[in-house]
Amino acid sequence: MKCVVLLLSLLSVGRSAPVSSCDTLINPITVNTDEILGKWMYVGGSSDLPGSRSLAFLLTSAWVNVTTTANSNVLNILQTQRINGDCSSMTYDVVFEDSTMLIKEPFYLKEVYLPTGCSDCILAHEEVISGNDTFTSLLLFSRKMSVSPDVVETLKKEAECLRMSSPIMMDPNNEICPDNLPPSEGLSILNSLLENKMAHRVARVLDVLFDVFVNW
Ligand SMILES: *[C@@H]1O[C@H](CO)[C@@H](O)[C@H](O)[C@H]1NC(C)=O
Ligand SMILES: *[C@@H]1O[C@H](CO)[C@@H](O)[C@H](O)[C@H]1NC(C)=O
Repeated sequence: MKCVVLLLSLLSVGRSAPVSSCDTLINPITVNTDEILGKWMYVGGSSDLPGSRSLAFLLTSAWVNVTTTANSNVLNILQTQRINGDCSSMTYDVVFEDSTMLIKEPFYLKEVYLPTGCSDCILAHEEVISGNDTFTSLLLFSRKMSVSPDVVETLKKEAECLRMSSPIMMDPNNEICPDNLPPSEGLSILNSLLENKMAHRVARVLDVLFDVFVNW
């Protein structure tokens, strides 16, 4: 009996080892343009962008719609979010080739994709460089409003592997914003947020307070 138990546990260790090894989890996967197009719900993630942790408290839902443009390696992203009850929408173009999303101006963004164990999800691992600052984000999107607990566990493990803070998940019951909002030009908005050092300092303090008082 003991032997059987031992054997079973060895088998299960043998099976789960590759799945949970950091090398496998943080190794970027191949993603084709067709796979990335369309509407995605933001389900949760982790970021060291200043303010992202306190913002996650006010951000109750977000989705993106990825569409093609006349240029075959350029995609358009329409991003809509509900922050503190208000819906807003912005749009920007990105270069997408070799399973990598790129923005070169006015800041640098590079996004690759990691495994999720969920067939209708996409997990973006993003690096943003603005001036001398580098920020990293891990963002999980799904075609559905929510994902199964094991997908959340994998995400947590991936954040750990990347030495990032624990992911903050959206509440799938939150109301999402409608499709027909007039979008603003997104890159200039994002860039002014990235370049505002004073706001970074305030946001970092908010993030620390948030982690201490709200998210512990
Ligand atoms: C980046 O760092 C260098 C060296 O510390 C400094 O001279 C430069 O002004 C910084 N650039 C920005 C945009 O902060
Ligand atoms: C996403 O974009 C496509 C192409 O413009 C459009 O047909 C579709 O209705 C959009 N979906 C949403 C949710 O905005």
